[in-house]
Amino acid sequence: MQDMREPEDIFNPRHYDSVHRRYDEAHTLPAWCYTSKRFYDRERERIFFKFWNCIGHHTRVPNPGDYFTQMFCGVPLIVVRGKDMKVRVFINSCPHRGSEMLEGEGNCKMIKCPYHAWAFDFEGKLYATPLIGETDTFKMGDHNLVEIRLETWAGFMWINFDPDAQDLMSYLGDLPQRTAPWKTDEMVCVSRREWPVKANWKLYMENFSDGYHVPFVHQHTLNFKKVSKRDFHDPTRYLGNYLMHYTYFDGTRGVREHQKKLPQLDLPEELKVGTFFPVVHANTMMGFAIDMVSATEIYPDGPENCTLVTSNLVPKSTAELPDFEEIYAQYLENGNVVRDEDVLAAERQQKGLSSRYNTRGCFTPQDKLVHDYNLWILDRVVGNAAP
Ligand code: FES
Ligand SMILES: [Fe+2]
Repeated sequence: MQDMREPEDIFNPRHYDSVHRRYDEAHTLPAWCYTSKRFYDRERERIFFKFWNCIGHHTRVPNPGDYFTQMFCGVPLIVVRGKDMKVRVFINSCPHRGSEMLEGEGNCKMIKCPYHAWAFDFEGKLYATPLIGETDTFKMGDHNLVEIRLETWAGFMWINFDPDAQDLMSYLGDLPQRTAPWKTDEMVCVSRREWPVKANWKLYMENFSDGYHVPFVHQHTLNFKKVSKRDFHDPTRYLGNYLMHYTYFDGTRGVREHQKKLPQLDLPEELKVGTFFPVVHANTMMGFAIDMVSATEIYPDGPENCTLVTSNLVPKSTAELPDFEEIYAQYLENGNVVRDEDVLAAERQQKGLSSRYNTRGCFTPQDKLVHDYNLWILDRVVGNAAP
């Protein structure tokens, strides 16, 4: 029996040597990678604060003054649309003495701090400090909000904390080109739902790239559609910060055979089968299907908790169908059951991994993509791979 307590020298590469073997001889990540605060803190620094992260569809803030707040890996954020229609992201902490400024979501005329009523415009500029005027030592221009980079792709807003990070489109490599036939920029977002998960964020990400669990975890749901083939990511062929698999099956998995279906998208023949599943590092899992596109954002809330948020997109013409609500309700209901099954699987795994008594696991040909994903994590957290 191995003692899997977190070692003092947790970032010593020797602890991870056996993960680097060929997948069929490799060990899984040690259990402490899913429970350790130190490992998690490095993931925040080297992954979440370095890579591009999706924070939802741009229609979350359609009008000037529309805003929402988001806790991102312990950093409170405000996302707000300006009068110039540009969406900006600021740290939700007042430059005076640090108060959180906005809560929840809504529409505002300005960003006003509730503590001493300092007011900022939607470009983050401080413009009012009640009872206090400018002096030789106090200049309003020195106290603007801290802005984070935001760029958009596929109708989604993506943020990056690293001022030196490459722009989003070069970061995505060939992914925009591979997904261009879905015309996601022209789609509308028809739902956004949130799930709290009592598991390390990696367990859910791994599950997304693991086709092995489908016949068992989804025995009575997704499994009704037999998968004939899966293509796995080949980083020598495709460029960009993502990992993908392509699952082949006939028709849609969104509803059962007897249930009403959404119209198929206008896709080239070779894409009219199955679903293309890219994981865009760091926080996004996407599904490009024959009748819709989905994106799931993952927000780590510490080493043993995370929150998932899924948005679904369809073409405007689909959303305008007279029976759309009725058909889509069935898609959502089925999707929620599948999601609950995956969440339960991740939470069970977390429980199992939380003990100091554990073995180092292994990979099979069916979950080898999880191995690739773990190597990607290790290269960043333990190694010195550049973003
Ligand atoms: S902390 Fe915000 S105005 Fe004082
Ligand atoms: Fe699943």
